[in-house]
Amino acid sequence: MTEQHPVASLNAKPPVFDAAFQQKLAELIAWRRDVRRFKPDAVDPALIEHLLDLAQLSPSVGNSQPWRWVSVDSPAMRARIRDNFVRCNETAASAYHGKRAELYSQLKLEGIDVAPRQFALFCDRATPQGLGVGRQTMPEALDYSVVTMIETFWLAARALGLGVGWVSILDPETATADLDVPGDWKFIAYLCVGWPVEEHVDPELVRFNWQDRTSVGRGVLYR
Ligand SMILES: Cc1cc2nc3c(=O)[nH]c(=O)nc-3n(C[C@H](O)[C@H](O)[C@H](O)COP(=O)(O)O)c2cc1C
Repeated sequence: MTEQHPVASLNAKPPVFDAAFQQKLAELIAWRRDVRRFKPDAVDPALIEHLLDLAQLSPSVGNSQPWRWVSVDSPAMRARIRDNFVRCNETAASAYHGKRAELYSQLKLEGIDVAPRQFALFCDRATPQGLGVGRQTMPEALDYSVVTMIETFWLAARALGLGVGWVSILDPETATADLDVPGDWKFIAYLCVGWPVEEHVDPELVRFNWQDRTSVGRGVLYR
């Protein structure tokens, strides 16, 4: 049986991305948010399948496509991930003092209790796909490939009105053991996905006076 590739349903002619599309794309990038406040409403599984198809088109070192998805569905597994977060967040909070500690305690840094869909993302460090191209001196290029895929997923989800929240306040070894995945899979990210309660053009951490956006990364060194 021939595998149905999502590209097959797309126009074979190169599209024209006109000025209106370019403006919309800029708005999509500006309005993508890390979401932690979700409505409990279910997400049509067909939407998730569509997003997974689009994410499959992401760049990857050697075309290795090393991302591996684990849909975390059972209440018991979600409770384990949530406990993992709570433990790690307590440790993280203890690194701050005074007003910063007070501010930290007010931040909402995950949506695990409510997000209707949750995924752990792994990198298959042992994948033969790509035949090693591009990763002999930098094996971490495989991990970066998973991250580029996540950004594709994130933007595509936002275009559908879905929110994505990235949770990294987790002990990766505990999460990996709990999720019982193959030994060569490296934990990369935990994503909460669902319909956002609110929409904002500015990041939550800016709104809660934790960290403004700055121009630090905007500069370019020329050599
Ligand atoms: C690698 C990575 C890890 C992140 N981990 C967390 C996290 O554990 N908790 C959280 O609330 N946000 C997390 N975020 C989201 C950032 O806080 C967020 O991207 C940043 O504040 C800018 O906000 P915006 O994504 O809405 O533009 C993470 C983002 C990235 C890229």
